[in-house]
Amino acid sequence: MVRTTPATLLGTDLPLVAAPMAGGPTTLDLLAATTDAGAFAFLAGGYQTPDALADQIRHAQHRARPFGVNLFVPSTTPAPDPAALAAYAREITPDAGAHDVDLDAVLASLPATDDDAWAAKIDLLRRDPVPVVSFTFGPPPAADVAALRAAGSVVLVTVTTPQEAAAAAGLGADGLVVQGPRAGGHSGTWDPARTAAEARTAGVVAAVAARTGLPIIAAGGVDGPDAVATLLQAGAQAVAVGTLLLRTDEAGTSRTHRDALADPRYPTTAVTRAFTGRPARALVNGFLTRHDAHAPVAYPQVHHLTRELRRRAAAAGDAERLHLWAGTGYRAAATGPAADVVGSLAARL
Ligand SMILES: Cc1cc2nc3c(=O)[nH]c(=O)nc-3n(C[C@H](O)[C@H](O)[C@H](O)COP(=O)(O)O)c2cc1C
Repeated sequence: MVRTTPATLLGTDLPLVAAPMAGGPTTLDLLAATTDAGAFAFLAGGYQTPDALADQIRHAQHRARPFGVNLFVPSTTPAPDPAALAAYAREITPDAGAHDVDLDAVLASLPATDDDAWAAKIDLLRRDPVPVVSFTFGPPPAADVAALRAAGSVVLVTVTTPQEAAAAAGLGADGLVVQGPRAGGHSGTWDPARTAAEARTAGVVAAVAARTGLPIIAAGGVDGPDAVATLLQAGAQAVAVGTLLLRTDEAGTSRTHRDALADPRYPTTAVTRAFTGRPARALVNGFLTRHDAHAPVAYPQVHHLTRELRRRAAAAGDAERLHLWAGTGYRAAATGPAADVVGSLAARL
């Protein structure tokens, strides 16, 4: 198989990608709308049960266009100090209390380990291969990369630095998702203790392109067709967008999150570990402001600690206590059909 150009790597005409967005925003309807419009699209395998993911894959396979599946690589960092987690639980107790969440009970029932059902999801993708598999949050084991490639999938690894890119090449990846620090949602950094310095995604792409010859999908901070052109010029073969799709008709984004993205009360974004224990870019709200400085480096433990609180905040329309994932281009996130977003990004190609 030739694996050099975007057309052969992703199988689409447009060098545009609907990024995976776990936790609700990625839906089968969003996948269908963006692929029908000529982009490539990912299902978000993170947080899903293997059965639910298998079901989504079955539905996606009924569509003619190729698609990918994205998985979270489990953390290999040592379990966090229980005292640090307990201290953070005390820190956020007033916020939990606002939604009647008993954090002591949550803390007592935190899963001892959580690898997001890694082995079952890899098994599923080996048995029932999809055109593309992408990984984020760290290096996948080389044996899993080899097994998925042997099954016929193109394997992409998300990287945030030239060093990670070189390591991903060494693992046998077919290509890279190069995510700049302006991206919305979780950073794919392999080191969750590190907070990336502000940088243009094009700069990260150029630095990675200088280090490896692998095809690059660039992601992070895209706010329109000019940003797409800049990233292609910097050396990317395709450009992924997440935030620009969050308010579209087909996305599964909560009403609270959608509204906040257009709310003048939220004039800026920041990278924080406050919601999940892993760096992620979000609109700056009350929860982030109060707790950012105190959050331990502890994913997925902090994710589990705050999850019920965030679920209730979303349901109650409380944007001040919700993880409002957003890249720096969020002001350009439009309502309406996702196909219009793809069309407008393709306008200058
Ligand atoms: C709500 C949301 C959820 C995300 N979930 C995932 C995910 O499950 N897997 C992943 O690799 N990246 C995830 N990301 C990051 C995107 O894949 C992509 O890197 C990012 O959206 C690009 O930056 P942009 O949001 O500025 O377009 C998420 C981003 C957002 C906004």
